[in-house]
Amino acid sequence: MIDRAAVEAVLNAIPDPATGRGLVEAGVAEGLTVTADRAGFVIEVPAARVAAYAPVRDAAEAALKAMPGMSRVSVILTSEAPAPARKASLSREAVDQGRPRAPVPTDRPSHVRRVIAVASGKGGVGKSTVSVNLAAAFARAGWSTGILDADVHGPSLPTMLGLSGQPEYRDGMMEPRRAHGLLAMSVGLLTRSDDAMIWRGPMASQALTQMLTQTRWGTEDQPLDVLVVDLPPGTGDVQLTLIQKTPLDGVVIVTTPQEVALADARRAHTLFQRVGVPTLGLIENMTGDVFGRGGGEAEAARIGAAFLGDLPLHADVRRAGDAGSPLAEGEMAARFDAIVVRVMAAG
Ligand SMILES: Nc1ncnc2c1ncn2[C@@H]1O[C@H](COP(=O)(O)OP(=O)(O)OP(=O)(O)O)[C@@H](O)[C@H]1O
Ligand SMILES: [Mg+2]
Repeated sequence: MIDRAAVEAVLNAIPDPATGRGLVEAGVAEGLTVTADRAGFVIEVPAARVAAYAPVRDAAEAALKAMPGMSRVSVILTSEAPAPARKASLSREAVDQGRPRAPVPTDRPSHVRRVIAVASGKGGVGKSTVSVNLAAAFARAGWSTGILDADVHGPSLPTMLGLSGQPEYRDGMMEPRRAHGLLAMSVGLLTRSDDAMIWRGPMASQALTQMLTQTRWGTEDQPLDVLVVDLPPGTGDVQLTLIQKTPLDGVVIVTTPQEVALADARRAHTLFQRVGVPTLGLIENMTGDVFGRGGGEAEAARIGAAFLGDLPLHADVRRAGDAGSPLAEGEMAARFDAIVVRVMAAG
């Protein structure tokens, strides 16, 4: 068993070049996660300082790997995106979330049994559609299910579940919204809908951490069986920081049958592997005459992941999304039920 205090002591023996203090003391080791045999954290610095911190990352990685009982270490060095000009006024809650440099909580959300992310390398492949309908299928299978829309740049859960209005706060926690048998939280509920979604990397990851850990997903008496997290598309720094700081039990990767999307799916798989999150499987979406078919299954075999199923382009799917309710019955809902059976077997 790796002890958190021991990890912190090892990191504090390495000086931060900027302040001369130990890495944990100086607040450089962000999102430090320690489990029985693993440790990881993120170092996020201005782009100009990345080179100066590369030796620090290497030293930290080497020192942690040398600890007895340590099987996997992941130290990620990433640069802060330059602060964008504030084009929109964010609500007070959202601004509070962006307040810099408070230690970021990375604890698991309490009373949640499993956290499963839905990811894609490429945007627009149907990740949010899959997240919502996968969550609905988990609920049909009898699991208490939550869905978290972590797509800070383009939250779509409010539309797809027909939600609006700010969440209520009670006893220091946000109450998730209830819709279609699911508990739901979206960054889209925390900002005014006409606000442009311009978030810097650290702000985005803090918003996610707060939605994860400060939403009352479950209680001691009624824990949540599964929380489905709709991640923003892509495999850049923002995604890396998010997944490093989020305690994920597994990821489902969505792709279309097209070659470009498949290459991006492979990249996403590699990214999750690097941070020790198992790929539960691939889903091929929009299968059919337009985009082709079969690429997802072949790609899954290539990367050694399970193939969870394909979903044809189907007008019901788009209609359900636009109407603000997940699929509840019919051929497409049955396909999601079959996917859930395979996810449950994989996880
Ligand atoms: N199998 C399908 N059949 C028909 N329409 C679909 C299907 N899957 C997704 N769509 C439609 O495609 C559009 C994009 O889907 P969605 O918003 O889920 O993609 P996304 O990957 O989450 O996109 P983004 O990268 O912007 O977050 C939506 O209008 C959705 O209704
Ligand atoms: Mg989306």
